[in-house]
Amino acid sequence: MEKRELKIDYRVYRNSFPPGYEQLCEKARIAAGKAYCVYSGLAVGAAVLLENGEIVWGNNQENVAYPSGLCAERTALFYASATCPESTVKALAIAACCDGKPRKEFISPCGACRQVMAEIVKRHHRDFDVIMIGEEETICVKASLLLPFDFEF
Ligand code: THU
Repeated sequence: MEKRELKIDYRVYRNSFPPGYEQLCEKARIAAGKAYCVYSGLAVGAAVLLENGEIVWGNNQENVAYPSGLCAERTALFYASATCPESTVKALAIAACCDGKPRKEFISPCGACRQVMAEIVKRHHRDFDVIMIGEEETICVKASLLLPFDFEF
């Protein structure tokens, strides 16, 4: 038997956004304000910064048949992939509001969104920053670290 260990390196920003990502984070907040979240009441916005400097964004889109909805991160990442397939992703910012107010705690992406991020890292051979915005703490972590043992085939 061999024991192995995985460590995750990430940065924490208090009352500030990671330097250079202020505009991206603002866009994620604006996107959260436009979410369709009538069932959960949790409005999530995601903004993607592409290598060509463009920012695209999306938000969660819910449905009365619950699994038919989609998270903000995948809405934004699929949009980026559909419209700019050649441009690699530099960063993804995620913001969330509850009852119209920004959440104190940051939102951490679900497993399915992490698997989609892992695909993008592999497709473009390029890691990217994932920024989880909270009112108190904002986290910045590399996408490749978010899903250890992701599915490969
Ligand atoms: N949601 C996201 O948009 N992103 C996440 O990372 C987690 C959850 C959405 C899905 C659903 O519309 C609502 O938040 C509650 O789960």
